[in-house]
Amino acid sequence: MTEPPRVQPPTRLWIGGEWADADDGGTFPSVNPATEEVIAEVAEAGERDIDRAVRAARDALRDDSWGRASPHRRSLLLWRLADLVDEHADELALLEVQDNGKPYFEARRIDVPSVAQTLRYYAGMADKVQGDTIAVPGPYLNYTLREPVGVVGAIIPWNFPLSMASWKAAPALACGNTVVLKPAEQTPLTALRLGELASEAGFPPGVLNVVPGYGERAGAALVRHPGVDAISFTGSTEVGRTIMREAAGTLKKVSLELGGKSPNIVFADSDLRAAVRGASMGIFYGKGEVCAAGSRILVESSVHEEVVEGLKGLAAKATVGDPMAPTTRLGAIVSEEQLDRVMGYIEAGVGDGAELVAGGERVRVKGRGHFVTATVFSGVEPEMRIAREEIFGPVAAVTPFDDIDDAIAKANDSLYGLAAGVWTRDIGKAHRLASEIDAGTVWVNTYNQYAAASPFGGYKESGFGRDLGFQSALEKYTQLKSVWVALDR
Ligand code: NAI
Ligand code: MG
Repeated sequence: MTEPPRVQPPTRLWIGGEWADADDGGTFPSVNPATEEVIAEVAEAGERDIDRAVRAARDALRDDSWGRASPHRRSLLLWRLADLVDEHADELALLEVQDNGKPYFEARRIDVPSVAQTLRYYAGMADKVQGDTIAVPGPYLNYTLREPVGVVGAIIPWNFPLSMASWKAAPALACGNTVVLKPAEQTPLTALRLGELASEAGFPPGVLNVVPGYGERAGAALVRHPGVDAISFTGSTEVGRTIMREAAGTLKKVSLELGGKSPNIVFADSDLRAAVRGASMGIFYGKGEVCAAGSRILVESSVHEEVVEGLKGLAAKATVGDPMAPTTRLGAIVSEEQLDRVMGYIEAGVGDGAELVAGGERVRVKGRGHFVTATVFSGVEPEMRIAREEIFGPVAAVTPFDDIDDAIAKANDSLYGLAAGVWTRDIGKAHRLASEIDAGTVWVNTYNQYAAASPFGGYKESGFGRDLGFQSALEKYTQLKSVWVALDR
């Protein structure tokens, strides 16, 4: 791996293809959670800045350079942006690491390449957005047009900042919308750089605007703004509820990708070594700050001890450390606030009587930063808080089950329904679980697989609407117009 360059972080709002300060001159610090150093003071968008960005996006929607651009042109621009992401991969990965605390190899080898892939997938979609001709009674030609929704407000979290930006912006732009993107206050840097790169790729001013700021201020203003036609949100279930309520005021189209408490189910007839590795990766990948994290590991009773021992061993090997060190597996938790939340859940697990078999320690690296060791609880009862609530940290809750019916009942005993994993060699069992588990994604003998072509999103209180995919993008980012033409006059 090449040595990453030193990079100058972007610090201002990206509106209408230009850098701008906040109207009131306000800024907020972006902090590196591994070192607790301030990386940059970033302009903090308020209501007037959101209004400016929405106006820029509305103007761009009407401007011929975007509003009448051929689908082929949109495709070309997305493809160019993907190339620029590849060209700036080292820089983007480094910004992501500084903001989020994840290991550099993850950002550089997984996040950034997947962003380029997502952009290319939707570059391929842009000129395939089309309607139907419909057989109607009478002397009429009836056909449908798939038109953009308009201005899309995208509000994204801090766990995969650049990936989430691409999951929202790429399909929205492919379908001809314009975007106002509000990154999470913890991680504004890569989204800002993406906005700048979009202009370099040739997207007209105002097509992709990036406005960092706080949720209650910038985020709320975007949700309320009458000039925004749709909100595409990824984040907590609690904020999802607020957004849905607030969006009612202007009847925006809303899609919500929310929290999870995903079960990863290990049967005795699985390849147990692979299952234990998969269960470990399912919760420890990305420090467990993953909406689909397999945080409830359900294990068939006969192999429970063996699986717990295996998880314990892998937890001990999940090296916590400097995100830039190639040996690091667990980087820094995104913020002190989030680490406090994770530690609170670890205390709750102990307090509720679960057995702490690995980790559970808050640590510092070179005397600094917000780190926690990979944590495994066994003997977790389904009613304990650590089995019910999203922790969003590297904390596994292991619960035994008796048989397939018990596994299904326990898996579905959650308000959430984002994802699930099933480990078995019995294909009948695998397909039965895939059908009976209430979750937007089911992984069989694997975990944490994503592709731009495959829709991702939740059942139940994990939200509605899907990111990624083709049909799901059409549903989310276009509206359908029915045109009637009389043929006899
Ligand atoms: P959050 O849901 O508050 O933040 C996500 C995004 O929503 C950020 O951009 C934030 O600025 C924005 N936001 C916050 N309040 C808003 C409002 N009233 N109107 C509009 N936008 C608003 O999540 P937070 O506070 O960072 O994390 C809290 C917990 O949420 C985590 O511990 C985790 O359990 C969960 N979470 C789940 C995520 C997922 O992907 N499922 C992502 C992030 C957090
Ligand atoms: Mg919040």
